[in-house]
Amino acid sequence: MEKSIKPLTDPSKPKVYIETYGCQMNVNDSEVILSILQDAGYVLTGDIDEASLILANTCSIRDNAEQRIWGRIEQFRLQKRRRAGVIIGIVGCMAERLKEKLLDSHVVDLVAGPDSYRTLPDLISKITPDTPQINVLLSHEETYADISPVRMDKNGVSAFISIMRGCNNVCSYCVVPYTRGSERSRNPETIVREAEELYANGYREVCLLGQNVDSYYWQDPDSADRNVNFAALLEMVAKVSPDLRVRFSTSHPKDISDEVIYTMAMYDNICKHIHLPVQSGSNAMLEKMRRKYTREWYLERVAKIRSVIPDCGLTTDVIAGFCGETEQDHRDTLSLMEEVCFDGAFMFQYSERPGTLAARKYTDDIPTEIKTSRLNEIIALQNRMSLESNEREIGKRHTVLIEGVSKRDPGQLFGRASNNKVCVFPSCGHKTGEYVTVEVTSCTSATLIAKTV
Ligand code: SAH
Ligand code: SF4
Ligand code: F3S
Repeated sequence: MEKSIKPLTDPSKPKVYIETYGCQMNVNDSEVILSILQDAGYVLTGDIDEASLILANTCSIRDNAEQRIWGRIEQFRLQKRRRAGVIIGIVGCMAERLKEKLLDSHVVDLVAGPDSYRTLPDLISKITPDTPQINVLLSHEETYADISPVRMDKNGVSAFISIMRGCNNVCSYCVVPYTRGSERSRNPETIVREAEELYANGYREVCLLGQNVDSYYWQDPDSADRNVNFAALLEMVAKVSPDLRVRFSTSHPKDISDEVIYTMAMYDNICKHIHLPVQSGSNAMLEKMRRKYTREWYLERVAKIRSVIPDCGLTTDVIAGFCGETEQDHRDTLSLMEEVCFDGAFMFQYSERPGTLAARKYTDDIPTEIKTSRLNEIIALQNRMSLESNEREIGKRHTVLIEGVSKRDPGQLFGRASNNKVCVFPSCGHKTGEYVTVEVTSCTSATLIAKTV
């Protein structure tokens, strides 16, 4: 059963404060960490000043992500000066990447990598002012399958479920295989059980998480007939209830199969949205990035998706200024974006990560000004296309799962359509967690403005 967050008023219990950086998987990991710490007697607090344990669950994906954490560590130093005995822990990807180096700050008492969270209570019990604790062992098996994450979200409608950990791709720019270790899939029965428990607790949407969900593969120890691939898993979760929406992220263009696309089409409650990071539109760059697909392959996958699911939302990730990127390579990225007309994109400048293949083999030779100007061009193009994509929705109807009250206007609710577009509309007596049909009346590049019908 889902465990509720206990009241914060019990003075006998130590309090933990958790900050989370990085991707959705890290958000879910913080929920796993909280579950483990609650079992060890901790309660969660939102007030850093009353916490006896301060944790930052960190990200290493780009240099600026790490710089932000170093800034936070300096602020934690002030906490330590003011309050003797407070424990500062750095967990997650940056802990895994930097290991003992984090102790040089003389602020950090605890360093724990993504596969070591079960050992947190033990590590914490051994900390003294002179003996910080560190566990950065990576595992080939750990999936935290038996742990019910304690949800820290406020809406109680939409939850993440990790279906796998690690990554076996070696995209040359990427640090994740080093911080999260090798890929392993979680037992599907535990995934379905978690979805059922969430549904019983009022949740109406789950998002299945993995660095490359298409390579999910569970090998049943007893019978190969019971092996489960990602399409089969999607179907199993979709069958939990027609009222439980299913999303997933991230799909890899080299691996997304026709079977997955057809399974999406078969179930109304599998949301019609695919996040399909392209990274670049240039074959030379894709080759150097070791993405293992070409521009032509990517465009064929998009065509397939759109032929089976014509109204499928499609979003992507793009990297500007990878090693050796020419003006023509950059133009190829822009032309691919224009050809696909993505509904949204996360766009980044290339940031060299120590230890990766790209850092060892290629020179990070695109000057920052050029990276920035290319990125700005990519962002401007995407903004224009997001607006166009939203304008095409005007007059259309969508079923929206209500996620909460609009931050800008308490009289308005917001939620997402199946295609992942955010809709804002007058509440008219509706509540969070309900499905409602809306008609789009206008839009911005980020939001659909709608009315209930
Ligand atoms: N597993 C996902 C991506 C996870 S990381 C996939 O393969 O699609 C999220 C995004 O961060 C990546 O898609 C990429 O666009 C970006 N990214 C990763 N490493 C980066 C780096 N070194 N510099 C800039 N962006 C990077
Ligand atoms: Fe990184 Fe590539 Fe794995 Fe994604 S698929 S996490 S970009 S190595
Ligand atoms: Fe960052 Fe680790 Fe996620 S590097 S993006 S938190 S897997």
